[in-house]
Amino acid sequence: MTDKDHSRLSADAWDELRDPRPMETGFDRVVASALSRRGFLSGVIALGSAAGALGGLLGSTAARAAGAPRFAFEGIAATTDATVHVPEGYEWKVVARWGDALFGDAAAFDPKEGVALASSDRVFGENTDGMEFFEVDGHHLIAVNSEYTNNEINLPGRHADGKAASAEDAQLLRNLQGVTVMEVAEDADGWQIVVDSPFNRRITQDTEMRLAGPVAGHALVQTVSDPAGLTARGTLNNCGSGRTPWGTYLTCEENFNGYFGATAADFAQTPEQKRYGIGGEGRYGYEAFTPRFDLSTDPNEPNTQGWVVEIDPADPASVPVKRTALGRFKHENAEVVLAADGRVVVYMGDDERGEFLYRFVSDAPYVPGGDTSELLDKGTLYAAKFTEDGKGVWVALTPEATGMSAEEVLVFSRMAGSKVGATTMDRPEWVSVNPIKPEAYCALTNNTRRGVKPNAGGDETPVGGPNPREKNQYGQIVRWYPEGGDHAADAFAWDLYVMAGNPAKHTDAYAGSRNVTAGNMFNSPDGMAFDSTGILWIQTDGDDSNEGDFEGQGNNQMLAGDPASGEIRRFLTAPKGAEVTGLCWSGDRKTMFVGIQHPDAPFPDGEGSLPRSAVIAVRRTDGALVG
Ligand code: FEO
Ligand code: CA
Ligand code: CA
Repeated sequence: MTDKDHSRLSADAWDELRDPRPMETGFDRVVASALSRRGFLSGVIALGSAAGALGGLLGSTAARAAGAPRFAFEGIAATTDATVHVPEGYEWKVVARWGDALFGDAAAFDPKEGVALASSDRVFGENTDGMEFFEVDGHHLIAVNSEYTNNEINLPGRHADGKAASAEDAQLLRNLQGVTVMEVAEDADGWQIVVDSPFNRRITQDTEMRLAGPVAGHALVQTVSDPAGLTARGTLNNCGSGRTPWGTYLTCEENFNGYFGATAADFAQTPEQKRYGIGGEGRYGYEAFTPRFDLSTDPNEPNTQGWVVEIDPADPASVPVKRTALGRFKHENAEVVLAADGRVVVYMGDDERGEFLYRFVSDAPYVPGGDTSELLDKGTLYAAKFTEDGKGVWVALTPEATGMSAEEVLVFSRMAGSKVGATTMDRPEWVSVNPIKPEAYCALTNNTRRGVKPNAGGDETPVGGPNPREKNQYGQIVRWYPEGGDHAADAFAWDLYVMAGNPAKHTDAYAGSRNVTAGNMFNSPDGMAFDSTGILWIQTDGDDSNEGDFEGQGNNQMLAGDPASGEIRRFLTAPKGAEVTGLCWSGDRKTMFVGIQHPDAPFPDGEGSLPRSAVIAVRRTDGALVG
């Protein structure tokens, strides 16, 4: 890797590298941060007793004593090796690795060269992320994202400073990303891809899609490719996922900004592009070969990216639909839940330092068997405002509240959030709603600039509320309880389910909350999903150096959390370098499918092979339910 090779940087680190925001904040901000930090540290107990806020954490021993153990496994130790570990009584097997054939005409994966261009849209994509399991007419389908590429792995020996050096290689990268829909079946050897299933489908960065909702046809999405502004070309940086009650898959476009670059020397960044990190050179070199990624010639093309896309996994011929009513930002996932009156509520995080947490509420209710084609096109987008007293409110991003047009609110949702004073968060990643209790959780993965730098829009990032630690390297999970138990209510109460930390290294707030121990510690919660019994599964994407502040935490991991007692147990550890992301269950809940993204080691094929991100299946050896 050369000094210029940024292909292994995280998106957060890449943004930081390119972002000229000042390191120093004003004196007033520093003082305010210090005051609010002291306020938090002295207020933990009060918060817990007043709002039940940390009651779960504080009461964990009593809760455990009162009932049966919640988890059917013993927590495992941290690991630092190159493979996956699960508890005693469980086993794991590979289901799909990048480069595995979906269709019989794909060439076999070359362990040293990877995938050839001709096969690159006929195989399972790179860097598996969000996924959902569907049953369609007795067939088992998994829809799964391929978030980005690692160019020194996907273009072994032939990338230039981490970027594609030819049009063919740029095309190969575009084919390895997007979404896979694949049929899977279980036999004596475990779950396998059903090669050539009529359900198998690759959706890539070139697949044509329809723009739907208020922004469709607007001048802001009129492009060289489609002057009418009704379509988009492909889907970029598909991160987390969601699923609707009517059986469709939601894929969420996250770090789309990195795919665009400007070739003209006199390119001038607009304020909107600056807010979204769009400008300069792209990460992948696409703009050198494909005009639609060149901001100099097609400035509106990035406005067709950054959305939530709905895909019907049951119909391989269906056109994916970008649902513009859900706003445009670095979408992490889209957690769908029904309000008391049946309206569709979608919770969404914007994963960047100091950005916001959003909610969409549809105008019309979902009626089983009814028309769902426009449910996600008509509704209201909100941003969250948290207050120090454990309360909060969803603020509607209307033209009246923002001074922006309805279409501008959706294309430039971040700016709308700033206008209403939404709370700047510590990088909102996945949101998950408890299926057995009206409460929602969001992983705030980390924010090493909390209290130090404003967000990309200049909004301050004061220490306090659900973001209680300056230079937060560990992350936390915030939880909220909608008023009246109705996810469409505008008011909520909140608390922190867990503050990650290192109790072996720190004695202050950086030790973490009371449900963090030397035996279960972790950093950077990211992927998150509830199972049907109400256990919260937490996946991490953090510092796996196992040194310094992170000593004892080992590789990235997946843990199970009990919402009631606060107890957290480590369930799975990943190979060195990998992030654990993406989680779904088979219909009988006997298999848990887990994503292993960007391993550094030659996982899972061993020495002599390129590293391969993979979906694995985890089962109990006695065949009982997982968990
Ligand atoms: Fe793709 Fe924020 O994770
Ligand atoms: Ca993530
Ligand atoms: Ca992350």
